[in-house]
Amino acid sequence: MKLLLKGGRVINPATAYDEIADVLIEDGIIKEIGSHIAVDNAEIYEAEGLIVTPGLVDIHVHLREPGLEAKEDIVSGTQAAAAGGFTTVACMPNTRPIIDNSILVAGLKHRAQTEGIVNVEIIGAMSKSQEGKELAEIGDMLLNGAVAISDDGHFVNNARLFRAGLEYANIFGKRIISHAEDENLSSEGVMHEGAVSTRLGLVGNPSVSEDIAVSRDVMLAEYTNSLLHVAHVSSKNAVDIIRQAKKRGVNVTTEATVHHLTLTDDAVIGYNTATKVNPPLRSQDHVDALLAGLLDGTIDAIVTDHAPHAYEEKDVEYRYAPSGFTGLETALGVILTELVHTGKIGLMQVIEKMTYGPAKVLGLNAGCLKVGGKADITIVNPGQEWTVDSRTFYTRGKHTPYEGKKLKGRAVATIVGGKFVMKNGEVFA
Ligand code: DOR
Repeated sequence: MKLLLKGGRVINPATAYDEIADVLIEDGIIKEIGSHIAVDNAEIYEAEGLIVTPGLVDIHVHLREPGLEAKEDIVSGTQAAAAGGFTTVACMPNTRPIIDNSILVAGLKHRAQTEGIVNVEIIGAMSKSQEGKELAEIGDMLLNGAVAISDDGHFVNNARLFRAGLEYANIFGKRIISHAEDENLSSEGVMHEGAVSTRLGLVGNPSVSEDIAVSRDVMLAEYTNSLLHVAHVSSKNAVDIIRQAKKRGVNVTTEATVHHLTLTDDAVIGYNTATKVNPPLRSQDHVDALLAGLLDGTIDAIVTDHAPHAYEEKDVEYRYAPSGFTGLETALGVILTELVHTGKIGLMQVIEKMTYGPAKVLGLNAGCLKVGGKADITIVNPGQEWTVDSRTFYTRGKHTPYEGKKLKGRAVATIVGGKFVMKNGEVFA
């Protein structure tokens, strides 16, 4: 089977390639990238005026399987990924039960391979049941397909345990992903602590809670010479702590979410629970620092932290609502609209942060276009205007802080292993 993507602007950050070119795919593999490729018997996709990029990679999603299927499952989650232009997602282990052993990793991997329509990577838990008391079967999980280890959703309070986890994962050359939050400081906080929380009368979660936790984890990674990834960085001091650590040669990477890069705590005015997330949306000075971190390379990846919840769980008073909302289907449009079309960051750099950058963080064989490599490709119409309407989402999570927002730019086709899994917004199961 041959597929020819004709005349698109091919952007491949791994090789700094940005040219109008054709891409020939044969039996799921990229055969050739070049101008005016002539071939017989190929399906032709006219990509003129469109951007052809490596398939987008999101290393921070919650697919909620096993056990929380009312929120999401592998099918709905990977359909949402395909709709948003993502060809690879890495899912977090805070499910029921927690993914803390190799049987669950292998079982989920198998299910993802048979039921999922994009590539799914599994992140195993760091502590048993994510209780922060005893290490989970880290080695066993890493030997059986887990790509990283994390107690995401919870901070590992016990520094001794965290140190042991870092040292253990390091033996396998894999990263511990830290959910950095001093929970004594963040306590009952439901939004960023600042002028807006005072005005709204909501309990604040101070940014220093993140700074202290990031400092500790960076110091432990430095001391043990191991591999650390800081999840969803959202505070300006935390960005700087990571920047300075990188300068000292600490092997630390980090990510920023789409929402922390594009929204402030002003979004909480109105008490819409679709704005409740952890870490919380912060003030403009923090948002500016994240953008600076993205531009200077401190931040390696843009992620969604796609965290769907059932409608009724979020349909309560602000302080009772669970944290998290969906992101896979809005991420690219929001980033193009808010950061690229406004000139804040270049297209090549943004695509790097959504493909090659995150793939490198977890050592995934993804995020770049190469002849002989798997044809995971996203086709983007940068000028397409559309309005966010959660009723059209494939994800079960219908809460998004971008509801009703007009966006410019979206994925118009998603190709996994040479096959279209999405065309013009329609997902093929
Ligand atoms: O807002 C969040 N939701 N932050 C997290 O760290 C966990 C996530 C979830 O699982 O719902």
